[in-house]
Amino acid sequence: MRQMEKNQTQSAVQIVQRERELEQRYERYRPYWHFTSPGGWINDPNGLIYAEGFFHMYYQHYPNGPVHGPMHWGHARSKNLLQWEVLPIALYPDELGEIFSGSIVCDTERTSGFGEEGEAPWVAVFTHHYEKNGSFLQRQSLAYSLDGGVTFEKYKGNPVLDLGLQDFRDPKVFWYQPERCWIMVVVAGQCVKVFRSANLKRWEYLSDFTITGGRENEIWECPDLFEMETEDGEKRWVMLLSANTLDYRYTAVLYFVGDFDGHSFVPEEQKKPMRLDFGRDHYAAVTYGQTDGRRIVQGWMNCWAYAQKLPECGFRGVMTIPRELKLRKTADGWRLFQLPVKECRMIAGRTIFLDGEKRLELSGEAVRLRFCCNHVNGWKLTLCHRSQRLEIKIDVQNKVISMDRTGCLAESAGKEFGEICRIEYPFRENEQKFELLLDVTSVEFFYGDGAVAGTMLYFAREPFTWLEITKIE
Ligand code: FRU
Repeated sequence: MRQMEKNQTQSAVQIVQRERELEQRYERYRPYWHFTSPGGWINDPNGLIYAEGFFHMYYQHYPNGPVHGPMHWGHARSKNLLQWEVLPIALYPDELGEIFSGSIVCDTERTSGFGEEGEAPWVAVFTHHYEKNGSFLQRQSLAYSLDGGVTFEKYKGNPVLDLGLQDFRDPKVFWYQPERCWIMVVVAGQCVKVFRSANLKRWEYLSDFTITGGRENEIWECPDLFEMETEDGEKRWVMLLSANTLDYRYTAVLYFVGDFDGHSFVPEEQKKPMRLDFGRDHYAAVTYGQTDGRRIVQGWMNCWAYAQKLPECGFRGVMTIPRELKLRKTADGWRLFQLPVKECRMIAGRTIFLDGEKRLELSGEAVRLRFCCNHVNGWKLTLCHRSQRLEIKIDVQNKVISMDRTGCLAESAGKEFGEICRIEYPFRENEQKFELLLDVTSVEFFYGDGAVAGTMLYFAREPFTWLEITKIE
């Protein structure tokens, strides 16, 4: 072969090799069953809606790099909440600002006047985030779609709600049938403001919901408000929101159970709010506005403390598995229970009756493991590969469940990633049931019928090969 041809062949081989290396590096951390974008950055799920057989998920997205750049709304849809088809970007930043979080409604009553007679427009209500004289301000705007949520036109009259505030964002809008009007809940600092509208364009202020007592240094984000019915037919309203301290040492999805009369939300138990998930990597969770009767919640599986420092793999950001919520009255008061949606049966699974210590081999594939046992003092579950480990303790005697990933830290993520998460739990049941949903970079733990949920990312150098289960004596 002539020297020039030989060089060309060599460099072509090098290019292919390099591409393969990059692909392996990037794909190494791609989960099997959790939503990620093909590239770029994602955070909060937005505009969650079910229509004509598809679940649509829009999401905070920066397509040009794995960092929180100027925000767009990405878009994907799925028939089973697990396998997603990525569609074109739905909303791009414009002269009014970046596109922060929000929601989508299907305007079947045609109150907004968007579109032609007979068409039911989809209306996205979102936050425009912009800079003015060195300050970041936020206001609410609209965009509508006449093709079932694929392409959107921004409303010419934007913004529709502007109070000149910072930290005024993440509108969640729903139709309130008793008064045949739209209700918006939107955060403003450490407060959820409630507005109403007849046409989605003009909004009238109704009330503020906030709490006092030790949470003053928090900022609230991503509110949601919805009615739920218990298995006994009792109805209550649930206020969901994401709270963080500005240094992100504390980030959590919180909920309150109470009543909403079309004007204000009043929690029934004015005590401290409940946490929806005690893991470090569960944030910005909101529910699908319309579904087949279920109330399904999905969050961003991450934490602002280190989200932008996690291993760089071409894409950054993962959503949690969608979970079905149930509301129940327990001996301790109203509680939300959550388990992975029934569609998760398609994930390879095993049910294990735990009558003694066990060592289960893991194949590196995603798996859903369900356990049933009655050992009174509790169990320690250790996911391991050589010296790397992640530990979950169900400590019945001390009434604590904990998750600890200090044995497999992501070096780039800094010390916040090494925190151990704990929750107190009363353990009143005789039989213990719990399950683990294990994917390439995450473990989601559910205790009981979903009374406790814990979500944690991990970045092990190699997939875990064993799950060791030992008794706590
Ligand atoms: C929550 C959040 C929202 C905001 C969005 C920006 O994670 O901070 O309050 O709209 O992310 O991407």
